[in-house]
Amino acid sequence: MTFIIAIDGPAAAGKGTLARRIAETYGFHHLDTGLTYRATARALLEAGLPLDDEAVAERVARAVDLAGLDRSVLEQHHIGEAASKIAVMPAVRRALVEAQRSFSARAPGTVLDGRDIGTVVCPDAPVKLYVTASPQVRARRRHDEVLAGGGNADYETILADVKKRDERDMGRADSPLKPAADAHLLDTSEMSIEAAFQAAKTIIDAALNRN
Ligand code: DC
Repeated sequence: MTFIIAIDGPAAAGKGTLARRIAETYGFHHLDTGLTYRATARALLEAGLPLDDEAVAERVARAVDLAGLDRSVLEQHHIGEAASKIAVMPAVRRALVEAQRSFSARAPGTVLDGRDIGTVVCPDAPVKLYVTASPQVRARRRHDEVLAGGGNADYETILADVKKRDERDMGRADSPLKPAADAHLLDTSEMSIEAAFQAAKTIIDAALNRN
């Protein structure tokens, strides 16, 4: 049986780093589901198609190839903005959730990270983690990342952006971001990634022993 680890949380909470590390440790396949929304948005932008036509966006979402997702191409800010707009569309979500569910069944196990994995995509996952941190801590981390990469950024602008993204992700009617009732909360505001990984590992090992 495939073992599924569902990881949800707001933007820049550290869930991507954690998901990759967990997948590596256990030899599981990893899918960053945010990239499926980003790939859909990018394909629309590239084709000069509108971002507010649900039928068109659904058709593009159904053509997204999970094997070709590349964060370095998809991480640009304007793609993230466009992704959060099409992520409110139920038809787009249905199409991408189907693809994500088939991915989640790969043996021997999978790690999916996103916003609605524990609540909608894989509600029966034996391990659900909800990784969060205060908006200030998340904005600080993103700011440090940009500076470390040689870029220029203003902390206040990033903080405003993080808060706006939270509002959109938590406030939408279809599959809003929220912890599943049975999710383990990991608040990384005052926790290193290493400490968060160790906490996650304890939870996963206990669940693997039960399975
Ligand atoms: O995590 P990210 O920034 O790559 O996500 C891009 C957008 O996609 C973000 O606004 C939220 C949305 N998203 C979603 O609605 N459901 C998911 N499972 C993953 C991402």
